[in-house]
Amino acid sequence: MKAFKRILVTSALPYANGPLHLGHIAGAYLPADIYVRYQRLKNRDVIYICGSDEHGVPITVTADKEGSAPQNVVDRFHAMNKEDFSKLGICFDNYSRTSLSIHHKTARQFFTKLYEQGDLTVHTEEQFYSEKSQRFLPDRYVEGTCPYCRYDKARGDQCDSCGKWLDPKQLIDPKSKTDGSTPVLKETKHWYFPMGRFAEDWKQWFNSQQWKENVRNYCMGWYNEGLGERPITRDLHWGVPVPLDNTEGKVLYVWFDAPIGYISSTKEWAKNQGAPDQWKKYWCDNETKLVHFIGKDNIVFHAILFPMMLKRMGNFVLPSAIPANEYLTIEGRKISTSQNYAVWLKDYLASFPPDPLRYTLAANAPESKDTDFSWKQLQSRNNDELADILGNFVNRTLIFVHNFFEGKIPPRIELDAMDKQMLKTIQNAPGQVGTQLENFEIRNATKTFMDVCRTANKYFNDKAPWSTRKTDPEVCATTLNVCLHVVNVLSVIMMPILPFSAEKIRSMLNIESVNWDDVAHQTLPADHPLGEAGILFNKIEDSMIEKEVDKLNALAGEPSQELFNKKDDLINFDQFQKMHLKTARVMKAERVKGTDKLLKLHIDLGDEKRQIIAGIAQDYTPEDIVNRTIIVVTNLKPAVIRGEESQGMLLAVRTKESLKLLTADGNVPPGERVS
Ligand code: MF3
Ligand code: ZN
Repeated sequence: MKAFKRILVTSALPYANGPLHLGHIAGAYLPADIYVRYQRLKNRDVIYICGSDEHGVPITVTADKEGSAPQNVVDRFHAMNKEDFSKLGICFDNYSRTSLSIHHKTARQFFTKLYEQGDLTVHTEEQFYSEKSQRFLPDRYVEGTCPYCRYDKARGDQCDSCGKWLDPKQLIDPKSKTDGSTPVLKETKHWYFPMGRFAEDWKQWFNSQQWKENVRNYCMGWYNEGLGERPITRDLHWGVPVPLDNTEGKVLYVWFDAPIGYISSTKEWAKNQGAPDQWKKYWCDNETKLVHFIGKDNIVFHAILFPMMLKRMGNFVLPSAIPANEYLTIEGRKISTSQNYAVWLKDYLASFPPDPLRYTLAANAPESKDTDFSWKQLQSRNNDELADILGNFVNRTLIFVHNFFEGKIPPRIELDAMDKQMLKTIQNAPGQVGTQLENFEIRNATKTFMDVCRTANKYFNDKAPWSTRKTDPEVCATTLNVCLHVVNVLSVIMMPILPFSAEKIRSMLNIESVNWDDVAHQTLPADHPLGEAGILFNKIEDSMIEKEVDKLNALAGEPSQELFNKKDDLINFDQFQKMHLKTARVMKAERVKGTDKLLKLHIDLGDEKRQIIAGIAQDYTPEDIVNRTIIVVTNLKPAVIRGEESQGMLLAVRTKESLKLLTADGNVPPGERVS
């Protein structure tokens, strides 16, 4: 493997368009933060760069909705997200913003250079334009009827009802979402980045590197489909203005400018360091290891588009690793911000400390497949692992030393086999956890760490210092010396995952912190006075968890398709059996007077006759339905509809166009149970 002189770590710039939720954290931020903290403890030259992505149509949509300016929206969410990150202990070296002039300038330089060296193509096409507002309408600003499913509020880019991707020109009866006018098609000119032109060059580079499986698969999929051209400008008044003459009202496409934000954020960092040229050391030297932490939806931009741009710019380093994560679901259901189904970081932090969340998400990181976060899991990770294993071991060790050794580190006198075994385990721990972190295996590293804690807790039990204290004080002293040594090493190797608790342990030990490689070799000075011992992790009570689950369900908006997949909504066979479904023959049918929707049906259920009132008159005439065999729920409480008693309910499917009865296939006698 290539040796690198320095490491440049980035996490996807989050849109300053809303608060952060746990999906964001598990995907692109916590793994990066853990990796960076580890590299710092290894004394490596590493910087961690991020910032707010402040451009793009969704931000203008939010601003329009609020009746405010995009700058107000991004100011608010930039400040909020920056603060939430910091409360969770995400330790960027710089958190910039793409609305700053340093960024605009850098993005302009990219565009200009690519343009001047002939790397861009230009096309004129027709796009919707609102004459009323005098502006071009981005795809999602146009609304109309979906040509596939006839849903009448389909967006220009996608239909929310049938999920089909759309071109706004396909919409039937298009309307501008902002001013309600009917837009007209007008010619507009846009610049494109011809990815296809650079595809072979890209492929050669891509194939020469080691990639995570999901990154390789996605990218080869795109490559095989043909990379084509991608427009990199938009008709919009918010973003980086296109740096060419006569391009009023045109800005760079957000996915062109955002990744450049990594570079401008590094420039800002260098400036703040008082060494403005230092950014080049990281970006323009191939002894830098560039690592992009992202969620899987960002793969194409980080593994294809941005590297191609960097390559065409010349003398920029290309990424060495892209640890793209899969998704996190919450309580078995997909996160949906539009439906308000999410656990917001801010809400979590208002009720719980940061470390239990960091630990839970690290132990369950969606590295190679989607994983699920549940409040129960947070509770058990906190109570059964952090509190009962790690917390218990640290606490009983320190309390014991305070109670029986005057709070001073006891001497190590003679090691027996058990002591030696414990020391060997702890000696190896930094190397094991370190190798896993180096390979972005956050889950495994977290597990290795907790297994060491488990071993330590068992060692304390097996050595039973509470009894050797009376029978063999030298053995007792040695046991506690070993335990304190273990606490010392644990407090360092847990720093990446549990930085706040690690800090607490450091002050309980009252020892200067050392780096990753040396801590296991450090001998604790006998007689050194410890700091005060305290509780590391409080238990999370059932009631706290129940409150959060209720909140989650209350927050969630309209039920959606996804609801059907939700585990909690599953019923068992007994529950299904409670519903009595039977075949029924319609003997007679008549309209209910004074309504045009209802039919009164006299039905034969084999051993009994009943009447039911059904809202099917617009789709079936009495003649249509007589003699048909339908399916009826027979144990539904009777209801009175328009003065008539309905003694059951028939089953039917209602689509947008019509209603269709459920009937039995073939010749089935009435009164048969449906199951
Ligand atoms: N804002 C984008 C998102 O949340 C990520 C941008 S990553 C960058 O999906 F590379 F473009 F900065
Ligand atoms: Zn549709």
